[in-house]
Amino acid sequence: MRIRPLGVTPENNIPQVQLILGSQWGDEGKGKIVDLLGKDAEVVARYQGGPNAGHTVEFDGEQFILHHIPSGILRPHTQCIIGNGVVVDPAYIMEEIDELQARGIEVMGRLFISQNAHLILDYHKALEEAIESGNGNQKIGTTRRGIGPAYSDKTGRIGVRMQDLLDPDRLREKVHHNVVLKNAMIEKVFHAQPVKESHIMALLKQFTERIKDSITDTAWMLNDSIRKKKKVLLEGAQGTMLDVDFGTFPYVTSSNTTVGGAFTGLGVSPHSVDRIIGIVKAYTTRVGNGPLPTELTGETGERLRKIGSEFGATTGRPRRCGWFDATVIRYAAQISGLDTAVITKLDVLDDFDEIKLCTGYRYQGKMLDFFPTNQVVLEGIEPVYETMTGWKTSIRNTRSFGDLPEAAKNYVYRMEELTGVPISLVSVGPGREETISLE
Ligand code: GDP
Ligand code: IMO
Ligand code: MG
Repeated sequence: MRIRPLGVTPENNIPQVQLILGSQWGDEGKGKIVDLLGKDAEVVARYQGGPNAGHTVEFDGEQFILHHIPSGILRPHTQCIIGNGVVVDPAYIMEEIDELQARGIEVMGRLFISQNAHLILDYHKALEEAIESGNGNQKIGTTRRGIGPAYSDKTGRIGVRMQDLLDPDRLREKVHHNVVLKNAMIEKVFHAQPVKESHIMALLKQFTERIKDSITDTAWMLNDSIRKKKKVLLEGAQGTMLDVDFGTFPYVTSSNTTVGGAFTGLGVSPHSVDRIIGIVKAYTTRVGNGPLPTELTGETGERLRKIGSEFGATTGRPRRCGWFDATVIRYAAQISGLDTAVITKLDVLDDFDEIKLCTGYRYQGKMLDFFPTNQVVLEGIEPVYETMTGWKTSIRNTRSFGDLPEAAKNYVYRMEELTGVPISLVSVGPGREETISLE
């Protein structure tokens, strides 16, 4: 089992359309890898999620955190697309654009937003705030960015879309209808402060003026780029276990984070994708509530959090940490058909004497080697581990697989064996150059 080249080099061997998604609970390092592969991309397109995402990119001593805007924006030659599957917060994305422009990154003219993408408005955030504040033990621990309520309006067919901005009468009517409906809920059910229609309309006016030339049929645009043989990256947000269908429901986000989300979120065909890349952190993290089978609540978890700087890129919340779970990656590979895995943050394990890998789960005395999708079973499982020896030396300056300590190589080989997914790249630091290709 070895090893398909990943599309960093050689240049003539780069797959045309590559899809990048998170294999665990998000924050696997998707931003770093999209930026890295963005070197050779002409178009980078985000397909789901919204400002719940925080994708970090570091180069030349600077750090950028992207929320809506594809991480490819940091490569000046790319065109960037926000697909119909993304939910867009007007106030937040304007701030994001301003920050990038203030730091010398040209955004306008390079960024295109689907006319069918839905908007996150004040009442979505107010409702989520009310629900999450009052929900006792059932709290999902969302990012409170209005994601769930906005996607609910999409599937409920009452959401406001980017194209409505270009039709003032329709926009006014839709916003009014929603404000009346939502304020009734906010006030009568949650006894919270109603939102102001005038505030929403003023914000949308300002947003429309700034963004109108970027609103387009991005599905056509992207398919046209693919027909013209341009190199394209499709950027996922969150991770497999936060998928609304396949994740640890109800502790999930409200979109499909697995492979199908890319096709419905952009309007491209599965046939157009040449390679599906799963980003896999060398251990496991999760922000928010819900099951995390390999969670380490004691000192070891604390060490992982500290060394790995595991604090949310969007909310700053501490991430829960645990050992690598091969069951999760096998599940991600099955659902999304991963062609290859990129391992990130291997360097975070540099100081550990022993490193554990979860190989499967024990449930009522029997071994399970697959991820249980029944909530009751999931609550009753116990992870089964094997232990490997740590390498106890810094690998951050290592640039070739052969130069890694034997113990680190063995750990990577074992991850590959246990997951069945060929590993093509190993990341050993947040910077672009801190990367090892396994060709
Ligand atoms: P994303 O949401 O999947 O893009 O990931 P985040 O940006 O939320 O979290 C990943 C964090 O790990 C960021 O702070 C990255 O800069 C950092 N990072 C990425 N790859 C590596 C790596 O190989 N080693 C270390 N130490 N940090 C990394
Ligand atoms: P990136 O793209 C990690 C989590 C939240 C919460 C759950 C639902 O940076 O990997 P939501 O606000 O989406 O309704 O919250 O999903 N969550 C993430 N966790 N990385 C993310 O994005 C996340 N986006 C949402 O913490 O548990
Ligand atoms: Mg993140």
